[in-house]
Amino acid sequence: NVPKKMSSKKKKRLDNYIKKKLKKEERVVLLEKLSKSSFWSEDMKSSKHIGQGAAAKTLPEKSQDANGSKPKKMAFYVPVSRDPEIQKARMELPICREEQLIMETINENPTVIICGETGSGKTTQVPQFLYEAGYGNPNSDNPGMIGITQPRRVAAVSMSKRVAYELGLTDEEVSYQIRYDTTTSPKTVIKFMTDGVLLRELSSDFLLSKYSVIIIDEAHERNLNTDILIGVVSRILRLRDELSQEQKGKIKPLKIIIMSATLRVSDFTENNTLFKIPPPVLKIEARQYEVNIHFSRRTAQYDYVTKAYKKVCQIHRKLPSGGILVFQTGQNEISTLCKKLRKRFPLTPPTKSRYSNELGQEEEMSLSETLEGIREKLTAKNADVEVEEVSIGDFDITESNDQDIEDEFDTFDSDLDEPSEKDEEDEDLPLYVLPLYSLLSTEVQLRVFQPPPQGTRLCVVATNVAETSLTIPGIKYVVDCGKVKERQYDVNTGVQSYTINWTSKASADQRAGRAGRTGPGHCYRLYSSAVFNDQFPQFTLPEILRMPIEGVVLQMKSMNIDIVANFPFPTPPDRVQLRRAEKLLQYLSALDDNGRITDLGKLMAQFPVQPRFSKMLIIGQQHGCLPYIITIVAALSVGDPFIREDNLDSSKDLEENDKETDEVEDKMREMEIDEQELAGIDNLDIAEKERRRLRRKKFYEVHMKHAGRDPSSDFLKLLNVVGAYEYAGATDKFCEENFVRAKTMYETHKLRGQITNIVQVNCPGANVYVDPKMGPPSSLQLKAIRQIITAGFIDQVAIRKGLLDKTANTYSSTRGIAYRIMLTDEDVYIHPSSVLYHQKPPDFVVYQELQRTSKVWMKGVFNEDRAELVVKDWKEFIC
Ligand code: CDP
Ligand code: MG
Repeated sequence: NVPKKMSSKKKKRLDNYIKKKLKKEERVVLLEKLSKSSFWSEDMKSSKHIGQGAAAKTLPEKSQDANGSKPKKMAFYVPVSRDPEIQKARMELPICREEQLIMETINENPTVIICGETGSGKTTQVPQFLYEAGYGNPNSDNPGMIGITQPRRVAAVSMSKRVAYELGLTDEEVSYQIRYDTTTSPKTVIKFMTDGVLLRELSSDFLLSKYSVIIIDEAHERNLNTDILIGVVSRILRLRDELSQEQKGKIKPLKIIIMSATLRVSDFTENNTLFKIPPPVLKIEARQYEVNIHFSRRTAQYDYVTKAYKKVCQIHRKLPSGGILVFQTGQNEISTLCKKLRKRFPLTPPTKSRYSNELGQEEEMSLSETLEGIREKLTAKNADVEVEEVSIGDFDITESNDQDIEDEFDTFDSDLDEPSEKDEEDEDLPLYVLPLYSLLSTEVQLRVFQPPPQGTRLCVVATNVAETSLTIPGIKYVVDCGKVKERQYDVNTGVQSYTINWTSKASADQRAGRAGRTGPGHCYRLYSSAVFNDQFPQFTLPEILRMPIEGVVLQMKSMNIDIVANFPFPTPPDRVQLRRAEKLLQYLSALDDNGRITDLGKLMAQFPVQPRFSKMLIIGQQHGCLPYIITIVAALSVGDPFIREDNLDSSKDLEENDKETDEVEDKMREMEIDEQELAGIDNLDIAEKERRRLRRKKFYEVHMKHAGRDPSSDFLKLLNVVGAYEYAGATDKFCEENFVRAKTMYETHKLRGQITNIVQVNCPGANVYVDPKMGPPSSLQLKAIRQIITAGFIDQVAIRKGLLDKTANTYSSTRGIAYRIMLTDEDVYIHPSSVLYHQKPPDFVVYQELQRTSKVWMKGVFNEDRAELVVKDWKEFIC
């Protein structure tokens, strides 16, 4: 029982800190802990070492005297004065008990793997440990920055903010960089970024010489970029090591820290092409409270959106306080569910919180006159507030609602075996319902970290972004639909599809774990244990096996990794997939016949976009087309900005094989528009409903407008909408009026600027002045634009099947007209969202992507044998 010795500096600092900052009572508790040494030592013994690094040896056997001899490590120390509240919260995090062990292991090993439950403090604390130990400090042995990669943008942003806040540093010192946004500066010490950002940095600085340590976070997710990064940094590690020996310290060795929420790290440790010595694995024992798991008795009796709704109602009405986290698969379901819940348990207007329940019931009653009555009463009484003045009994609200819900309960598995049921007579608390998915703006996503308004219960409805990257405070109940929406990719044909599948056992357990962070919790699985046992795979397939990889292959070639097949992938991709990627790069002239990168290819690798887009940018400098090509590329890279109402008639066959979401389809459509304007609160009255009806009507008109009077290309529809958006001053108002997603448009706007800069840097001769408010293209330019796009999609030209059979083309719509393409023997069809859908089928089309639902659809299509257009002035597109 040898207690861990604390560094004397640290001890002194802590003593001072305690004296100065903490209140007396807190001081006593802390001093007690310190005097027993338990705070620093006890828990360390519970951490296990797996693997065979030197870490185990670093467990010191030193005297108990905390003031004694010099500390072995931690020679450099950067003092930080944290807010006492923060310091208190940190000390509760399991990882903080392991600080010294972690730092010693890092000091003695080039690579360390840290495994710890989500919420144990990996992401927020490890960078701080490094910072305090002098990493990133110009006067230390490790002056390079601390870099942390995240698979998700919102995590990079929120974590950098959190760490800056905890350390009391500015957002320049602790900064983030994501594709569209950065706060980095020369002052940056800690930099959070998406893994894609770091991958791209490699092509200009292969040694990552700006960094002294790279933390690769969320490695368990096995994202494509994360996997590639791990492979690359394992090589950089060796290089930096060799160089630092040769150059006697001019180049410092690099440290790699891989962080994972699960212990399944054998792909990293047992892969001897990756690391010479298997890295030590530090397991952080998290204080995970018990989570009771409740399975449904039956699976798939209702759709899981309805099922989740009922379960949340039950929890909210019957179980003690504590946040609810619901996992759904995507935006539509989340919006539908949020809407239903907001309607059922309306939110308190924050300024009149004690009246909230009464006021909040307006939706339930749908009697606007009565409501007006309440409002008047409230306003009149607002000066001398007295709760009793407006009693809910007056309006008979609770009773009827209770009845509704009880009816639902009868038909529902009632597996809530919670003892402390609330009094049935109690009125319902408002529920603070927040959606969380990646299409929401970052600020909206970050709301989940703020405490819910007083007197409400938090309910977050999320995709699997809440599974491990973000820990939402105060969650006690998890409702898990058990599904995940995954991009599937056919390595042979390049056909992509989004399918909703059962998630893995590992991720279902992660989801359940979210309920046990702050105390014992409950996880309600909306599927049966038989389904879980028999149909859930153990783990999710690494993304590299599910994604097109031409961008990655080009990146690697530009880093002089010529034989990509020999790269130390944690999980190697399929050989067919690699060959296909190389073939495409050859079509695009990025590689020569021997698979070596060409000058064009090197240039292409500089652009933060897919290879086919970078090709378009490079050849886009004719006839003054570059501004248009930049715009189209930016828009295609960011994603579809159009709110999906333009498929009203045809979306049924798109969703055909997605039976489970069918029932809620109508509500979803309504919600897609709602979400944008009602970002938090659902308070519809009749006038509002009418306003929306008119909006929907206008929606069609606007979309027709975007397509142009004589539409022949989805690419031009995109160009039109971006042109009109910029003309209107790039405002959110434009987006709202034109039924496009504000976040997508804003990102397109930013990426346009970014790509313009990159073209300027990489193609110095090019005339790349891009007026944000460019005019519409001339007809000559339109012709050129089509040719340039075709060059980028050279392998994605489709021929009308009838042309091959010599059938006359007498059709008036492309509906049901089959096309043939190079990559598959299957017939493919023009997607109903295309502007070409209702036109005479062209003989040749170029398509942007294939998607499989009930059929294989071509999306983003244009007619190759016909040019002219349409747009005379962007003004036409502004409403
Ligand atoms: O990375 P890991 O999942 O191990 O944990 P973390 O993200 O570092 O979170 C540690 C703790 O900080 C959790 O309890 C979070 O709820 C909290 N946190 C927070 O309160 N606000 C943030 N913006 C980020 C984290
Ligand atoms: Mg984390």
